[in-house]
Amino acid sequence: MSQVHVIDHPMIQHKLTIMRNKETGSKDFRQLLTEIAMLMGYEVTRDLPLVDVEIETPICPMTAKKVSGRKLAIVPILRAGIGMVDGLLSLVPVAKVGHIGLYRNEETHKPVVYFCKLPEDIQERLVILTDPMLATGGSACDALAMLKERGCNNIRLMCLVAAPEGIAKVQAQHPDVDIFVAAVDEHLNPNAYIVPGLGDAGDRIFGTK
Ligand code: PRP
Ligand code: URA
Repeated sequence: MSQVHVIDHPMIQHKLTIMRNKETGSKDFRQLLTEIAMLMGYEVTRDLPLVDVEIETPICPMTAKKVSGRKLAIVPILRAGIGMVDGLLSLVPVAKVGHIGLYRNEETHKPVVYFCKLPEDIQERLVILTDPMLATGGSACDALAMLKERGCNNIRLMCLVAAPEGIAKVQAQHPDVDIFVAAVDEHLNPNAYIVPGLGDAGDRIFGTK
């Protein structure tokens, strides 16, 4: 069974509260999501493999540690997952970035695929799949299945707010994928929106409503 890591650092909770507030506009919403993604990135990358490198300090030569960051790929689920990419790239600037385009059908709430472009060597990389919202879990599960069809076997899912229903679905369908979230909310409403949540993440990031 995959693990759920709730990253409830006070700075993350503080920033998330501002994001949840309906009075917060797109500019601040985007900025805060970037900042939270960077902070969450510390935990998501906590056990990244290190490699030895030989360097010289001003005092003497030494064998030091470096993250082997070229083995990482960040894959946002479009659109809203894009809002978490820059924060992660500020931690691992050499990571490659793929994109999976999915939207939820407004009536069925089922995801529809419209785009997939991934790094050629994606199957060799640790993949961090990003999406701020894990609601029914349909989009995340389909994106995870697409990554696995392309040979990925080392994937982490990074979300901002999750519903218990979404977590349960990912754990049932993808027990090998650990989930990192800043908050687990109460439930879904009849429109499959997270309660209390923060509304439609894509619309709030891009100002489309
Ligand atoms: C939102 C969100 C997730 C999905 C979560 O995207 O960003 O991708 O819904 O819902 P689920 O867990 O029930 O699948 P949306 O379909 O609204 O597309 P958008 O990001 O382009 O606005
Ligand atoms: N997608 C969102 O953007 N918000 C929700 O609450 C659920 C799905």
